[in-house]
Amino acid sequence: MSQDHFEVNVRLKERGYQVLIGERISEELSGRLTELGLNKQIALISTAPVSNLYLEKLRRQFGGDWNFMHYDVPDGEKSKSHEQAYALYTWLLENKYERNCTILALGGGVVGDLAGFVAATYLRGVNLVQLPTTLLAQVDSSIGGKVGINHPLGKNLIGSFYQPRLVLADISFLQSLPDEEYVCGLGEVIKYGVLSDSDLFFRLEDNIAAIREKDPALLATVVQACVQIKADIVEKDEREQGIRAYLNLGHTFAHALETFYKYHDLKHGQAVLLGMKCALFVSGELGLIDRTTAARIDGLINGINVQLPAEPEMDVQSLVEIMKRDKKIRDGTIYLVLPAGIGKIVLTPVADENLLRESFSGLR
Ligand SMILES: NC(=O)c1ccc[n+]([C@@H]2O[C@H](COP(=O)([O-])OP(=O)(O)OC[C@H]3O[C@@H](n4cnc5c(N)ncnc54)[C@H](O)[C@@H]3O)[C@@H](O)[C@H]2O)c1
Ligand SMILES: [Zn+2]
Repeated sequence: MSQDHFEVNVRLKERGYQVLIGERISEELSGRLTELGLNKQIALISTAPVSNLYLEKLRRQFGGDWNFMHYDVPDGEKSKSHEQAYALYTWLLENKYERNCTILALGGGVVGDLAGFVAATYLRGVNLVQLPTTLLAQVDSSIGGKVGINHPLGKNLIGSFYQPRLVLADISFLQSLPDEEYVCGLGEVIKYGVLSDSDLFFRLEDNIAAIREKDPALLATVVQACVQIKADIVEKDEREQGIRAYLNLGHTFAHALETFYKYHDLKHGQAVLLGMKCALFVSGELGLIDRTTAARIDGLINGINVQLPAEPEMDVQSLVEIMKRDKKIRDGTIYLVLPAGIGKIVLTPVADENLLRESFSGLR
């Protein structure tokens, strides 16, 4: 097996697991499953844009006595549904998949969340292995064990914490990722750069052009750094009772923007980039961060060049109202995760609505 990959160990109370990151690491899939002692019943869940590119090569590893089957769900967020989960249970039951089978999730966060939810609930839980194929899934959604589906009344409302047995983040998958999706992942990457006191932020600053060009060797080191940061936080706070909230840097603003633009014209990662600009503005006005550091973070975000959708016209009061309905509200006050420097995050109540309106206005 190749040595040119990174390993991050996620150490959790019940059972830890490894995240392996590298170019072509997915070629080691069947060998890694054997090493883990997983049995031969494999159910791979994916979606056509991904499986058309990568399924055949993976399937070739599962000859002989492996029992390998595959299911493509329709592409997109709408597949994170109760109906789709139910269809997958039926498929597994009809094929007599047993308690010790393994579900492989090959795709972005949608496939990972849905397949993970099915793995957590089918026969009260079967083995789950994540093969994330978007940058967002590699640095964020495949790590930390949150799995789930949407409800017509809101996103991600039905779910569980369910840890995979293994995550293989194959950097070569990212080469086929549409640029818009890649930018979304970069939003989360910059978030990690700001919230961690590692040297990630400075490496991003120095190499942003090569990262935009998807330089594979550099990307592997960046994904590894992000996974390590998320793993460290998740280990300390598996069920999101404390510091895991820091991962929401920029996200309260982002969720308001996503809701306002009804998700259509603004993707999550793009909203996170804009949300971090709002958070920076508020931090600056409250004197929580020095101007030089704020300008550096702002400069890195501007390098990604995300624009507000042209339509509809932004209404800052509506955005503040949406924020007030967010779940990070206690006793009617908005609590915000704000940057106080590189690697310095504060969670603070912000009562001044004018400040919030101004932060959105600054995006124009
Ligand atoms: N569980 C968590 O902790 C967590 C964290 C963040 C986000 N999420 C969830 O993740 C989802 C978003 O995930 P996403 O941004 O990966 O979106 P996605 O899964 O919809 O993938 C984006 C698009 O890229 C395509 N694609 C994926 N990999 C590709 C590749 N290698 N080459 C070409 N095309 C490819 C997909 O088919 C899709 O059209 C949301 O549902 C969100 O709620 C979960
Ligand atoms: Zn996010």
